[in-house]
Amino acid sequence: MATAEQIKSLIKSHMTGQPEAFYTVALQLAAHEARQGHQALAEEIRGLVDTARTRKNGAIALSPELANLVLKSDPDARLGQLVLGDDLKERIERIRLEFRQQAKLKAHGLSHRRKILLVGPPGTGKTLTASVLAGELALPLYTVLMERLVTKFMGETSVKLRLIFDLIAQRPGIYLFDEFDAIGTERSRDNDVGEMRRVLNSFLQFIERDESNSLIIAATNNAQMLDHALFRRFDDILRYTIPGKTEIEQLMRNRLGNFSRKGMSLTRVAEVTQGLSHAEVAQACDDAIKDAILGDRKYITASQLKSTIDQRKKAYISNTGS
Ligand SMILES: Nc1ncnc2c1ncn2[C@@H]1O[C@H](COP(=O)(O)OP(=O)(O)O)[C@@H](O)[C@H]1O
Ligand SMILES: [Mg+2]
Repeated sequence: MATAEQIKSLIKSHMTGQPEAFYTVALQLAAHEARQGHQALAEEIRGLVDTARTRKNGAIALSPELANLVLKSDPDARLGQLVLGDDLKERIERIRLEFRQQAKLKAHGLSHRRKILLVGPPGTGKTLTASVLAGELALPLYTVLMERLVTKFMGETSVKLRLIFDLIAQRPGIYLFDEFDAIGTERSRDNDVGEMRRVLNSFLQFIERDESNSLIIAATNNAQMLDHALFRRFDDILRYTIPGKTEIEQLMRNRLGNFSRKGMSLTRVAEVTQGLSHAEVAQACDDAIKDAILGDRKYITASQLKSTIDQRKKAYISNTGS
């Protein structure tokens, strides 16, 4: 039998998304079993670790043209890392559920949600959501580099789009068109309005025709500037907002981890934090942790956290000029 410590480390490394730590403990477990004379079990565990490792590292490389357009990664992010309102969380769980049960839906002539638009201010977890879905569904994440995709020449852009949608069809994965505005809005700023319009239309047609097994996620900070034609092509639209008090508190607890003292009240700090994005709250917590480490302190007090929050807020206000 595995020791209680080993089981705890397994769970911990899984929950904090540390695959290498997870494999290490699993291999220790295998060694432990081997010493007990359980050779078959030990071999089985080693085999499982090997398969998991090669699946992560052994994928065939992308062609040079594609490698220029998409960035592949294998995130280990989990739903538990996302701090969002209940409604949004349920919608994300629904995407995961429908994806996992797609065969069941298909048997009844229904297709799972797989073309998703994420809309909301910067730093509220849109990109993280794509990573979480990749982690939860154990699929690679392909991030499309929008600035490389949209060029001045329509013909070139179409060729690149086709390459990407061929990849989407050939390799199941999560495909993230991040900062999606590059296609949706450039056309209104560009002198050659007709040209960008055609890029957008061509993109919409690709999306519409796509019948792959991949999940396509488009994310944008700027909903107003997007076309209504765009909205209609998606199976679901998720709207992100800056966090409320409850979410801020949750985020701080997650982020501070062992640096927060048991029973420490974050309610007051969360109140003064309102207005900041998830990303800014996370950064302020990290700053407080750094201060603690550099000052050889084991814990962070609410007032120390409040002061890093104040610094963030000042930076934020001077940036927006309000
Ligand atoms: N909803 C959230 N829950 C937990 N952490 C978040 C959330 N939103 C942002 N963060 C933190 O801020 C970082 C940047 O967020 P990101 O997902 O890139 O924001 P966006 O894509 O909406 O601009 C994340 O990696 C994470 O550390
Ligand atoms: Mg983003």
